[in-house]
Amino acid sequence: MPENVNRQWVLKSRPDGMPTEADFDLVQTPIPSPEYGQVLIKNLWMSLDPYMRGQMGSSPVGSVIVSESVGRVMESRLDGFEAGDIVRGRIGWQEYGLLDVTSAFPVNPDYGPISTSVGVLGMPGLTAYFGLLDVCEPKPGDTVVVSSASGAVGAVVGQIAKIGGCRVVGIAGSDEKVSYCVDELGFDAGINYKTQDVNEALGVTAPDGVDCYFDNVGGPITEAVMEHLAMYSRTVICGRISEYNEATPSMGPRILRYIHSTRSRIQGFTVNQYPAQFEEGRAQLARWVKSGQIKYREDIDEGFENCPKAFIGQLGGANFGKLLIKVSDE
Ligand SMILES: NC(=O)c1ccc[n+]([C@@H]2O[C@H](COP(=O)([O-])OP(=O)(O)OC[C@H]3O[C@@H](n4cnc5c(N)ncnc54)[C@H](OP(=O)(O)O)[C@@H]3O)[C@@H](O)[C@H]2O)c1
Repeated sequence: MPENVNRQWVLKSRPDGMPTEADFDLVQTPIPSPEYGQVLIKNLWMSLDPYMRGQMGSSPVGSVIVSESVGRVMESRLDGFEAGDIVRGRIGWQEYGLLDVTSAFPVNPDYGPISTSVGVLGMPGLTAYFGLLDVCEPKPGDTVVVSSASGAVGAVVGQIAKIGGCRVVGIAGSDEKVSYCVDELGFDAGINYKTQDVNEALGVTAPDGVDCYFDNVGGPITEAVMEHLAMYSRTVICGRISEYNEATPSMGPRILRYIHSTRSRIQGFTVNQYPAQFEEGRAQLARWVKSGQIKYREDIDEGFENCPKAFIGQLGGANFGKLLIKVSDE
């Protein structure tokens, strides 16, 4: 590999339905030089997240794919940052990137391995923290159901709910993922939506109804959960991964009668509503991780070349835990 080469994955064509590897192009450009007020970052760990599918619908064709990473400062022309510092920021699918004072965030090494700053202590962990505690408002004894339960967000949701004294039911796409939630993370019950009838299984696992539903998926799973809502239940719409590859949603709102009869609340949510509280949330999550009350699992793909394949896999459920690309050694 010649020196001064920056490899980038760019959007070659807008995906129609599920993305394919042909929608991405691996290109080479010179490593950029930071201007005054910028830092040059070498990408170490890259986070792959389902929201990136949405961005592919609006980002310009030819642009570098958007994503968050944790990396090392190689050169700094920004006050407060020095070569060698570890920072987090939206570098995108490229080996080197430029950040500035609005987009470079120092990583606190006391919190744990630096990869966690884009996982359990980063955007997915904070999503679980604020979505559950602020929107679902669980109380001890409540039944909390979470979909995509073994994933980066879902696994943290279930564990925070357990810390709060709730009964937790996780819905996931394989027996292995379900046993991980129950046997390793301490959920009370799990449902494999690929082999079980979710509606029937909820009758058994949530016999008193669902007080809080943390919805990561939408579609038929969500419709089934709605039939089990308890009175005055709270649902947070965090994600709709079952619909991300559809041009138009395959089902309409057939759930309104359940919301009506149970006087329930459904609220949409995005984690970027809470920037002022991120540090407080991160510090609490770090304490729980340190005390062992929150466990996390990373699914690491080694090699920058694998970005499209790993991302397409995530949309189909191939990842088991927080999906990361290891771009380069720390
Ligand atoms: N609102 C926010 O601010 C915010 C922030 C972060 C994430 N999110 C959303 O939260 C959700 C989870 O994100 P994550 O980062 O934790 O990803 P993840 O759960 O680690 O990975 C995605 C998982 O989604 C599941 N999935 C894929 N297709 C599905 C389908 N048709 N039906 C049901 N499940 C399906 C798969 O697991 P199974 O094998 O279990 O099917 C897959 O492993 C996503 O919808 C994401 O967009 C929202």
